[in-house]
Amino acid sequence: MEIDVKIITAENYVTTLKAASRPYHNHYYAMYSSMLGGMVTDPALMQLPIDDHIVHRGDGVFDTFKCVDGAIYNLDAHLQRLERSATAIGIEWPGGLNELRELSIATIRAGAKRNCSGRVMLARGPGGFGVSPFEAPERALYIIAYQLGQPFMKKKPLGATVRRSHVPTKAPPFAGIKNCNYLPNVLMKREAVEWGIDFVAGFDNNGFLTEGATENIGIVTRSGELAFPRLENTLAGTSMLRLMELARNSQTDNANLISVVTLRDITEQEIFDAAELLIVGTTLNVVAAVEYEGAAIGSGTPGPVWRKLNQMLEDDITENKELRTVVFSANEGSKDG
Ligand SMILES: Cc1ncc(COP(=O)(O)O)c(C=O)c1O
Repeated sequence: MEIDVKIITAENYVTTLKAASRPYHNHYYAMYSSMLGGMVTDPALMQLPIDDHIVHRGDGVFDTFKCVDGAIYNLDAHLQRLERSATAIGIEWPGGLNELRELSIATIRAGAKRNCSGRVMLARGPGGFGVSPFEAPERALYIIAYQLGQPFMKKKPLGATVRRSHVPTKAPPFAGIKNCNYLPNVLMKREAVEWGIDFVAGFDNNGFLTEGATENIGIVTRSGELAFPRLENTLAGTSMLRLMELARNSQTDNANLISVVTLRDITEQEIFDAAELLIVGTTLNVVAAVEYEGAAIGSGTPGPVWRKLNQMLEDDITENKELRTVVFSANEGSKDG
């Protein structure tokens, strides 16, 4: 028996898309598409061309930032990382960093939510279904404003559980490029969900700690050293780098808490021996990991360095005028997310 497939025409395309709307579409606020040359706010219309190489080859780069109480935090760091990732795979946006910035702000504004996530996807662009990047004559840009998740410790104040991932770590230089081939990261997240834990930690071939699925991981040693892995095998997390800067700048105030801030190789044994295990990322802020492979880290409760650093990062996000790109004035935009 032949399968009966409905024919969609230009006339009924939009009605069909709208009929296919789903409850989770409520979490999507606005999308800019260079292919449309404009912005849509109806989630049913937030579509990508199937022949864009970002779709069928993962040939594109992305970055995710957040807008908190009307201002985007650390936008330039995110866009500079996007540009570095793009350059690494030979993608250039003709409008440059400045246009990426303006369009990011415009998308968040169009979404009209004071608190949201923003994801910028810079794609090889449409042009066919081959693997050659040279098949695509022009780059494409998609930016979406969508629902912002709560910081981890607001959801789970007792802290996080972590185990060792079985997924092979991305080799350099891929680990440092935020490209749209996130399969290893997806599989890591899958492990965490299947194992009923919060995060997994990756290790490289030499047995050194790398990172989580979409987060950086560091330790606080019993002598007060705050250490994150060297950047070769990890993504240069904007939150991690800012946190290290905040920790260094405040070292005199926190001399009793943090003796030194480093990037170095970290062994699994050092995690077991650590006073605290910290996980950081844009949506999460700073997470206190209290259990690794079933063993308590330090006291088994969120520690003093976590408390101090998370507070510093939260204050930076809401108060640092230099790092906050204001999108909405005090009475603009909706407060709900
Ligand atoms: C693989 C990976 N590591 C680390 C991070 C944390 O980076 P950031 O602090 O800039 O969000 C991310 C962010 O999504 C990531 O995808």
